[in-house]
Amino acid sequence: MIERLNHVAIAVPDLERARAFYRDVLGARVSEIEDQPEHGVRTVFVALANTKVELLGVLGDRSPIRRFLERHPEGGIHHLCFEVDDILAARDRLRAQGLRVLGDGEPKIGAHGKPVLFLHPKDGFGTLIELEQR
Ligand code: CO
Repeated sequence: MIERLNHVAIAVPDLERARAFYRDVLGARVSEIEDQPEHGVRTVFVALANTKVELLGVLGDRSPIRRFLERHPEGGIHHLCFEVDDILAARDRLRAQGLRVLGDGEPKIGAHGKPVLFLHPKDGFGTLIELEQR
């Protein structure tokens, strides 16, 4: 069902500084900072040849990464995103195996304009997993 890692997301306390680190220190191609008000985050995408890194900063009081950053003040890996061909079929398959899909279980449009779902981190060995329709 999964073959491709779409991105690794890292929550960071200072998005400008993290963007500069990937661009100037590591020498990567980085996007501009984009606000994602419907997700409560600001994002920078680091384009690598075989995958991406998504840098996540807080946007607004109810940002879903605020609590994560309280527990990990220096930042940390927040989720992995795997691509699937059919997100509803993937959801149903995982639910049938007892996994918990976050929210109301309906795909939302993610940062790349494609439908996404998140799986409960306790079902993924402590790792939040995002599924994105290819
Ligand atoms: Co993501």
